Amino acid sequence: MSPRMPVDFDVSGKHVLVTGGRGGIGGAIAAAFVDAGAHVIATDLSPVPVEPRKGIDDRVLDVRDADAVRALAEDLDRLDVLVQCAGRAAPMTEYELATFEEIVGIHLTGSFSMATALRPLLAASRGSVLNVGSMYSYFGSPLVPAYGAAKAGIVQLTKTLALAWAADGIRVNGIAPGWIRTALTAPLADLPGAAEAITSRIPGGQLGEPEDLAGTAVFLASPAARLITGVTIPVDGGYSAG
Ligand SMILES: NC(=O)c1ccc[n+]([C@@H]2O[C@H](COP(=O)([O-])OP(=O)(O)OC[C@H]3O[C@@H](n4cnc5c(N)ncnc54)[C@H](O)[C@@H]3O)[C@@H](O)[C@H]2O)c1
Repeated sequence: MSPRMPVDFDVSGKHVLVTGGRGGIGGAIAAAFVDAGAHVIATDLSPVPVEPRKGIDDRVLDVRDADAVRALAEDLDRLDVLVQCAGRAAPMTEYELATFEEIVGIHLTGSFSMATALRPLLAASRGSVLNVGSMYSYFGSPLVPAYGAAKAGIVQLTKTLALAWAADGIRVNGIAPGWIRTALTAPLADLPGAAEAITSRIPGGQLGEPEDLAGTAVFLASPAARLITGVTIPVDGGYSAG
């Protein structure tokens, strides 16, 4: 038997890039990495905040813009962890082709474009990618055909890149959040009866908060997860268990 080693959750000193990093989940994950001693770049559509966020290098990036994605990759010297939180849904209007393509372009093509542009840096650091799925990776929703198709695709992309890049030492995983209180879900949660319908399916009976995703994100980036690749972990309060 090998000697017993302490479990290593240390991500201090790692260089982390979070897309959608000024959103609810991306912001909470970026802050958690800062608290854990990592260097964090947060990219998003929205302008860089006037008041700098402590420990976070905020930048503007539309993940659909392949030239801007390539330029960002060329500007970086080192990357250990890529966390892909950029996203939005367009309930009902996703049945229009242009909107369908836009939503798939953000979540699925955007995640692929970011990961492939940053692959050389991740290979150099033997780093990891964290993609963000959804309960709609597994369940259908008539409201969001593009969002659901893209989120299902992200689970498959996670497995595929994990296999393709294992020889480079790059691990590729995902998290599938349940219902988390953010700007994305605010319109749904405000619909009469919708919050009750959702929480009645969650064993603990509570919507999640963005911070609930942070521990899993940091763990998956840490040495403790060195044998974990190609999986998408539900962080959903048991929603998908029922
Ligand atoms: N909130 C939930 O319940 C929930 C559930 C499952 C999955 N998710 C996923 O988690 C991720 C984060 O969502 P959230 O709930 O924090 O929502 P959010 O709206 O708070 O954050 C999403 C961020 O992505 C950014 N974004 C949108 N389009 C972009 C683009 N083209 N390029 C770059 N950035 C872009 C937005 O500006 C925003 O800051 C998304 O992928 C979402 O699909 C959320």
